[in-house]
Amino acid sequence: MILVTGGAGFIGSNFILDSLLPKTGLETPLSSQESAVQNKKPGIVNLDKLTYAGNPSNLKELEASPNYVFVQGDIADRKLVSALLSEHQVSAIVHFAAESHVDRSIHGPMEFIETNVVGTFQLLEAARTYFETLSSTEQNTFRFLHVSTDEVYGSLEPREPAFLETRQYEPNSPYSASKAASDHLVRAWHHTYGLPVLTTNCSNNYGPFHFPEKLIPLVILNAIAGKPLPIYGDGQQIRDWLYVRDHCAAIRCVLEKGRLGQTYNIGGRNEKTNLEVVQTICAILDELHPKSSGSYVDQITFVKDRPGHDRRYAIDASKIENELGWRPSETFETGIRKTVQWYLENTSWVDGVQSGSYRAWIDKQYAK
Ligand code: NAD
Ligand code: DAU
Repeated sequence: MILVTGGAGFIGSNFILDSLLPKTGLETPLSSQESAVQNKKPGIVNLDKLTYAGNPSNLKELEASPNYVFVQGDIADRKLVSALLSEHQVSAIVHFAAESHVDRSIHGPMEFIETNVVGTFQLLEAARTYFETLSSTEQNTFRFLHVSTDEVYGSLEPREPAFLETRQYEPNSPYSASKAASDHLVRAWHHTYGLPVLTTNCSNNYGPFHFPEKLIPLVILNAIAGKPLPIYGDGQQIRDWLYVRDHCAAIRCVLEKGRLGQTYNIGGRNEKTNLEVVQTICAILDELHPKSSGSYVDQITFVKDRPGHDRRYAIDASKIENELGWRPSETFETGIRKTVQWYLENTSWVDGVQSGSYRAWIDKQYAK
């Protein structure tokens, strides 16, 4: 049994769906060989507080699954976490739960400290206490996998080499500082208490179920709604994009084969400026969902820059590639096309997440 935290969010939902749904799709009857594989799938307990970013309907396909349990709760509730670990005899924790949006961390950093730092601390303490009750055989296979970000390394100059795992931590936003703090706690719980931890630091994800406060889904949805496509500053900031399902595959790979106490950088070598990303989305929409006249690029609008905006991120993924054999399966071109198509086809999901609180955030962030 795996305890997934934050599994109703963007990456967590994709991780759970990929882990539990048969690859052939439920509409196709499974062969006996496939059924045997299916029966070996892990059980998953999803602990999620359901903040504005959590959406249990992402996982509605699993409602009837005997392998899936949803619990609404806070990772900082140590009593609850301890009870779940014992009740479900958990053999691994995959920790996604976090406040994840840089712009929100600038408006209100407190929740980032509470969940990303204090929440991770409480989760580690619950895991440590539970770990001490396990037999030595169970201890040998127990894992605590902490999902973190490339933003902990700070910003790169244009020609600097991509981030290696040995890169100095230089977080620049309240979000990245809180994630850096959580990485340090995880490291310390390994060195001091022997908790079998693994940490992954991944670059920018995109794909289905991405909450439309983030650049890619915001631009797709604003474009088809005829609204401005807001680009911060000069749009020449660089991010290194990875299709979310490739990130999930990398996490499973680290969980199975990663060396204890190690960190693994994850990225797809897809460095793009924000302007390039937005122009690519516009070109795909011009083809798949043309406007009656003109191009979606006409909606591009340059707006005030993000304070402390990191200029460039890039991941050197050689360690996970060479040591564990992981490779991404999507290029940016294939992944972004699938993503645009997903948003065009999933209008009821889009309507569901664009609630009153979402609109209040958009008004606050883009008012001027
Ligand atoms: P998200 O904001 O979409 O989802 C976060 C989930 O955590 C939500 O379901 C939310 O309800 C839940 N949550 C928040 N606080 C909680 C708490 N106190 N207790 C229990 N649940 C809580 O985030 P995401 O984009 O899916 O990111 C998941 C993880 O991956 C985060 O740790 C993030 O730092 C990391 N990460 C994200 C990216 C990216 O590009 N999105 C890249 C690298 C790493
Ligand atoms: O690098 C990994 C990180 O990627 C994760 O740790 C974070 O959780 C995740 O949110 C993401 O952070 P970014 O700040 O890079 O993502 P975001 O989609 O918010 O912004 C991507 C780039 O686009 C960034 O340079 C800011 C810019 N941007 C963003 C928005 C929302 C705009 O130009 N306009 C916008 O409206």
